[in-house]
Amino acid sequence: MAKMDERARLKHLAAAKAMEFVESGMVLGLGEGSTTLLAVRRLGALVAAGELRDIVGVPASPRMAREARALGIPLTSLEEQPCIDLTIDGADEVDPQLDLVKGGGGALLREKIIARATRRELIIVDDSKLVDRLGSRWAIPVEVVPFGCSTRLAWLRSLGSRPALRMRDGQPYCSDNGNYIIDCDFGPLEDAWVLSRQIKAETGIVEHGLFLGLATDVIVAGADGIRHMQATRRPVQDRERVQDG
Ligand code: A5P
Repeated sequence: MAKMDERARLKHLAAAKAMEFVESGMVLGLGEGSTTLLAVRRLGALVAAGELRDIVGVPASPRMAREARALGIPLTSLEEQPCIDLTIDGADEVDPQLDLVKGGGGALLREKIIARATRRELIIVDDSKLVDRLGSRWAIPVEVVPFGCSTRLAWLRSLGSRPALRMRDGQPYCSDNGNYIIDCDFGPLEDAWVLSRQIKAETGIVEHGLFLGLATDVIVAGADGIRHMQATRRPVQDRERVQDG
């Protein structure tokens, strides 16, 4: 119980720190998860107090949309605002290169679409999320279309993982996009980029929870205080733009 309370305290600290990155007039991506929810609540309080003005949010899930609306945070869509200034989101694992595993809350597809449209991707975590290698503590969530799902399970097993169809109330868990999620335990990954490309190339697979080269900043709250880690490399979306010319 005491351990749970400490974890909650650290999430609050990370969420509070995220507010230092938000400025009036910003288009904000709002991710999913319990840490992001705390940040969105703080955001709502700043909006209500008039300390932040003219911000609009792009939510990664219907739940976050409901929360934001209830807090008086104006919302928009990627159709109206295709460039997001800052996204605040959580993660299940963070490695030393600031690559991530996400999708514990099932919102990985929309979270990744938002991350790729974002200039500054701010990840807020407590220090239990830090790992040396992705896949060490968390299975990689893979979102698949329901049709032929058992064949995708077999394929993911053939890649060397132990796949498990995510369930809720005795039924396959259904994402906000109407898809299933298969949690794939690969153990600590040798090369997350190679695996990422392999999984993405397979028919019937919509997205996976490896977020590589997308985080620009990570706030880590630990017993010793807050740490701000910044990616030294260029975010992947910028690199692609450069390559695209
Ligand atoms: C949602 O799909 C996830 O990517 C979350 O961001 C991640 O699971 C972290 O959630 P917590 O902040 O609840 O740990």
